[in-house]
Amino acid sequence: MPTVTAQSRDARHGDRRKGAAGSVAPERDPQASAAIGSVLTAEHLSKQVDSPEGPLTIVHDVSLEILAGESVAVVGPSGAGKSTLLALLAGLELPTDGRVLLEGQDLTALDEDGRARLRARCVGFVFQAFHLIPALTALENVMLPLELAGHAAARASALETLRRVGLADRTGHYPRQLSGGEQQRVALARAFVTKPAVLFADEPTGNLDTTTGARIGQLLFEMNADSRTTLVLVTHDQDLAARCRRVMHMEAGRLL
Ligand SMILES: Nc1ncnc2c1ncn2[C@@H]1O[C@H](COP(=O)(O)OP(=O)(O)OP(=O)(O)O)[C@@H](O)[C@H]1O
Ligand SMILES: [Mg+2]
Repeated sequence: MPTVTAQSRDARHGDRRKGAAGSVAPERDPQASAAIGSVLTAEHLSKQVDSPEGPLTIVHDVSLEILAGESVAVVGPSGAGKSTLLALLAGLELPTDGRVLLEGQDLTALDEDGRARLRARCVGFVFQAFHLIPALTALENVMLPLELAGHAAARASALETLRRVGLADRTGHYPRQLSGGEQQRVALARAFVTKPAVLFADEPTGNLDTTTGARIGQLLFEMNADSRTTLVLVTHDQDLAARCRRVMHMEAGRLL
């Protein structure tokens, strides 16, 4: 992952603000969401990749619909295609076939910038491998999406969110100075600091002890209840999956 200097961050910040004035609505449109009912629709999604053994289909013809405010767990064995499906649903990757509608917008019809703007507006994503920016402190990592979206009081919101994940005393640490579980909590804080319409989280409690994992689970479901944040979680944590309204099983690239 490339490091981001203060200067390049400012440049990106400026670019986003310019974009935000024109094409990015500052708030999601609840009426549009209510009219559609679903916040996320996948139609016949497939993903094929090249591998050393030749072409490999890692997601096969997946169709699903997720309603605003729902909580959904995606479970299944290692290699089933869960992370790939999550990346497709969030517009981080493009399908080989099929399409994804996020808040009514066809992700496959948008270019990379358009998808990035839509994600900045309504998506939080917690990667399985965290992907924190190494040159930024915990606090700066959490402030970044707020700054990109042009929020006032980014610092105060980021500090409060870090406090909620139990990291009030680690805000000045760089990712390399944090434990795996602490990095995971910074990644969670970064994903939900903007109160996104949809929060995608890939094994959000995967590196946490039972008590911290339960606390993070509590936070996720508080967001789901308080802000109607739709949760789409990939998890091997049975307690977390059991708390979701719906559990989807995935095996060998297919939803069962
Ligand atoms: N870019 C790629 N090129 C080749 N194969 C890939 C690529 N990305 C993923 N795969 C393969 O696709 C399959 C699904 O990967 P994915 O990461 O989605 O699984 P997963 O269900 O999230 O597994 P885990 O529970 O271990 O995280 C795996 O067998 C993986 O090796
Ligand atoms: Mg995975």
